[in-house]
Amino acid sequence: MKLNRQLEQEQASYVNHSYLIDCSLGSNPFGCPDISAEATHSFIEDIDQYYSFHHYAEIAYLTSCYLGVDSRHLTFTNGSLGALELIFNKLIDAKSRSMIGIGPQFVEGVSEFIQIGGHYQAIDMFRYPCEHSLFAALEAKVQKEKPSLVYIDNPNNPTGRIYDKSHLISLCQVCEKAGSILIIDEVYGEFLQPEQSMSSETLWYSNLLVLRSFSKGLGLAGVRLGYILSSPKLTPFVQSAVTVFAPSLPALKIACHILPKAQAFVADNLLKTERFKKQMVKLCKQCGFDVVPSSDHTPIMLLHMPMIDVAKRLEELNIRTCSGEHFSITCQQVDEQYARVRIVGNDRDLDQIRLRLESL
Ligand SMILES: Cc1ncc(COP(=O)(O)O)c(C=O)c1O
Repeated sequence: MKLNRQLEQEQASYVNHSYLIDCSLGSNPFGCPDISAEATHSFIEDIDQYYSFHHYAEIAYLTSCYLGVDSRHLTFTNGSLGALELIFNKLIDAKSRSMIGIGPQFVEGVSEFIQIGGHYQAIDMFRYPCEHSLFAALEAKVQKEKPSLVYIDNPNNPTGRIYDKSHLISLCQVCEKAGSILIIDEVYGEFLQPEQSMSSETLWYSNLLVLRSFSKGLGLAGVRLGYILSSPKLTPFVQSAVTVFAPSLPALKIACHILPKAQAFVADNLLKTERFKKQMVKLCKQCGFDVVPSSDHTPIMLLHMPMIDVAKRLEELNIRTCSGEHFSITCQQVDEQYARVRIVGNDRDLDQIRLRLESL
């Protein structure tokens, strides 16, 4: 063939044909439930006012219907990070700030605790061959050290692993005897089956707090709204710790608007999450990455490749991830040879991920 051989040489150009696929944050790859233009307008009505308590009653009522819990034990906060801050700074006695968790885990919560002078330790999940031995080690440590807080993110961030509820219940009982408050952070709780959630257990265990959020599965990261489900014993303390008018009026209105459609939205997303997660795990494994054990039902995972700066390597392919080194204060082993990746939310990006990974 008489082809123009010059085309084989690289052409000088500053145009990048690749676009950025951002898998670095845990916000919802499928967006949020539909919000009509009409409703959008109502969100800024009365913006010159503090919220009225009927707004608060409405969000509490709608959330209680959505989750099947008692509205009296819900406290709304500025994101679930706001909930963690409130627990760390106000709920527990400032003289006994000690916390035990399972690392790697949600690092912003932990660093917040360390910043206010808290003493944090983690049981390393990689050191235990099964979940039973992991929780046995954690329970033994709690019994011995009696920390003021035990903090578990379920699903776990960064691995996307889901812990078995029987272990969480047993841990809760051990914490109760040790006088420790157990925080179960269910910020990714929309990716749990109802029977995996600890939300209803807040009724039975006096030392239990469950955190939930509108940021992940409900797709409203920008409104900064989270909530605490607390035991009847802890609720008065939690409610007097929260600052008055804490979540904004637009945040409450937006959440109230989407809550009636939330169950259908979440159900649809669960199917999509499983499909994209399975395909991304398969692609990553085919291209030589280890995937740290993770549930098919969660949108995040932790990749590992020995001797490689994984986030850097993927960034060269214009795939943005979160480097494992950010998690190292919760688990020393997790460094730049690891990266947390969130699934993509459409087939075009999935195909691009495939093409780019195959070029490695
Ligand atoms: C486990 C966990 N907890 C809490 C948060 C904070 O979420 P929010 O947006 O509700 O403050 C995150 C966010 O990434 C998270 O992964």
